[in-house]
Amino acid sequence: MKTLLLASALFAGLLVSLAAVPVPTPALYHAFCRTMWLFAGPCTDIKTMLVTQILASSPEYTLVSVFPGFVNANHTSPKTPEGETIIISFYPTIVTGGCRMSALSKSNGFTSLLDGGQNYCNLYNLVSASGLMEEPGFMETINEWACMGYKLATCS
Ligand SMILES: *[C@@H]1O[C@H](CO)[C@@H](O)[C@H](O)[C@H]1NC(C)=O
Repeated sequence: MKTLLLASALFAGLLVSLAAVPVPTPALYHAFCRTMWLFAGPCTDIKTMLVTQILASSPEYTLVSVFPGFVNANHTSPKTPEGETIIISFYPTIVTGGCRMSALSKSNGFTSLLDGGQNYCNLYNLVSASGLMEEPGFMETINEWACMGYKLATCS
């Protein structure tokens, strides 16, 4: 009886460990891009400029919701019919009275991790068109780990 219990325990363990063996998956991901922008001005102004631009960029961008600390939007284009989800958060920088804006664009469909800069451009084009890049203290923080392929991106 003891042997049987041990055997079944081992067998169950074997099944569990087999299930834990990673199955090779195709090289498809929900590509994403995360960026951070800094401004000298207060978050309320920065957020107003961004929301205004999202509304002005309809129908390519759709404003989904506006909360005190963040904004949700959708992006779609003929190139990416499944679209991308955009979340932009605003954090007042206490010491300087400025604003830190952190943005994420994520592909809804499965794509290659190298998305041709699509997610980066979704964010860049909004910030560029809104005039936020001319705001005092504007600074962009971005890296390859958080936004793969952004260096290759040519945003139009
Ligand atoms: C935004 O995109 C999501 C996911 O595709 C969708 O479910 C939602 O209805 C969209 N919202 C608006 C306001 O378009």
